[in-house]
Amino acid sequence: MGSYNADSGILTALASQLRLSATLEINELVHRQAAKGHKVVHLGFGEATFPIQQSVIAAHRQASDITSYLPVAGLMKLREAVAEFQSRRLNHKIHPRQVVIAPGSKPLLFALFDILQGDVLLPRPSWVSYEPQILHASKRVFWVETDEVDRHTITESSVEMAFERGVSEGGNPRIMLINSPSNPTGQAFSQQDIDIITAFCRRHNITLISDEIYADISFSENHGATPCSGSQFDDGQKILTGGLSKTYSAGGWRVGYAIFPNNGFGEKVQSAILAYASECWSAASAPAQEAAAVAFATSPEMDLYRSQVVALHKRCTLALYNALRECGLAVAEPKGAFYVYPSFHPYTQQLEALGIVTSQQLSHWLIEECGVAALPGSVFGEDDNGFIGGRYRLRMATSYLYFQSHAERYERGYETLALASDTRTPLALQLLDESILAIRKAVGKLRAVA
Ligand SMILES: Cc1ncc(COP(=O)(O)O)c(C=O)c1O
Repeated sequence: MGSYNADSGILTALASQLRLSATLEINELVHRQAAKGHKVVHLGFGEATFPIQQSVIAAHRQASDITSYLPVAGLMKLREAVAEFQSRRLNHKIHPRQVVIAPGSKPLLFALFDILQGDVLLPRPSWVSYEPQILHASKRVFWVETDEVDRHTITESSVEMAFERGVSEGGNPRIMLINSPSNPTGQAFSQQDIDIITAFCRRHNITLISDEIYADISFSENHGATPCSGSQFDDGQKILTGGLSKTYSAGGWRVGYAIFPNNGFGEKVQSAILAYASECWSAASAPAQEAAAVAFATSPEMDLYRSQVVALHKRCTLALYNALRECGLAVAEPKGAFYVYPSFHPYTQQLEALGIVTSQQLSHWLIEECGVAALPGSVFGEDDNGFIGGRYRLRMATSYLYFQSHAERYERGYETLALASDTRTPLALQLLDESILAIRKAVGKLRAVA
């Protein structure tokens, strides 16, 4: 076959750095254990799995023969629905022209990092894809440190320190990204937290991207604040992103959006995004946009669906949180989304005795020895050599604990959602019970280490 060498001269330096996501690695480990006949409870995947609301499914089916490209900015009906929904939520008029639709919010974030100037301030820990996206755009990341002790909030000193570090290391921090409720921590900002962040951004002329993909899954009235509410949205350099994937369990349909403020900054960034989109993804899928226009409606039936989704995620996620706390782990009470982010650092001595000194080793030990799959904190930016608790943090997602199969999702799903709001009815979630049991056994094993 000649002397052809596949290793050289094919990929760019940038492409050579790309890695498959950590979630896939966890999946592989889970499958390997399953092939050996070992049961593993799957807390590794953050994919919402509730049944899709019936009229949303019907709209998708009905639109399945629409095959034309839609406008780059999105279907007007959908932009109107998003604008109306967000006007009500943000208590401020959003015009449909301020909304851009895309195949998921992920490509929108990717494009924003590509077109905006400057380096990025990112809370530690943060969702797995931000850092690779930022590095891909030849930007630097400056981490804003957080801690479970104060529910991973961003303080004035932590954000100022990150900014100063960025400047002193020759960087140019001009962008900050926040995600509330957060993947991976499940934490969400209070109005006071938001005031600190927006004042900081104003002081240093920083563009604030607010990833609000989990914003509708909020458990606490005091922790659902956004920098984009009220007339202040139009005062500064802020961009809101969101989508269909989490609240509506329709990640695979690929619909996301960005909302730009009604000012010169917003117009400028929006036209750059549209030009980018026109050369990159053209438009999101037509049937999915038709369905999303129904999903984002402020109709009573969609309001009911959203409230049921919140109630079910809240009950399941808080049940897992309570169990973790009872096991003696360091964990902050989740305020939204479907994640719990415990640190095993109260068992540092036992973990070290087992030779476990990184979050990845901890995650492998839990899968292989205890049948619990969770993602290591290191994939969210945690520094195994930094703060002592950081190397023992894991993200546990509750989104796979509801149904054992796709068929069950639709056989039992609507009833489970309907019952969730009535807190007197016990939740019959076998996978949740199995997870709690497996975690208790794992902690029991640690306690038994001399
Ligand atoms: C924090 C966060 N932002 C954005 C996304 C991307 O969502 P999508 O591209 O499906 O809209 C995800 C998905 O996992 C996420 O967890």
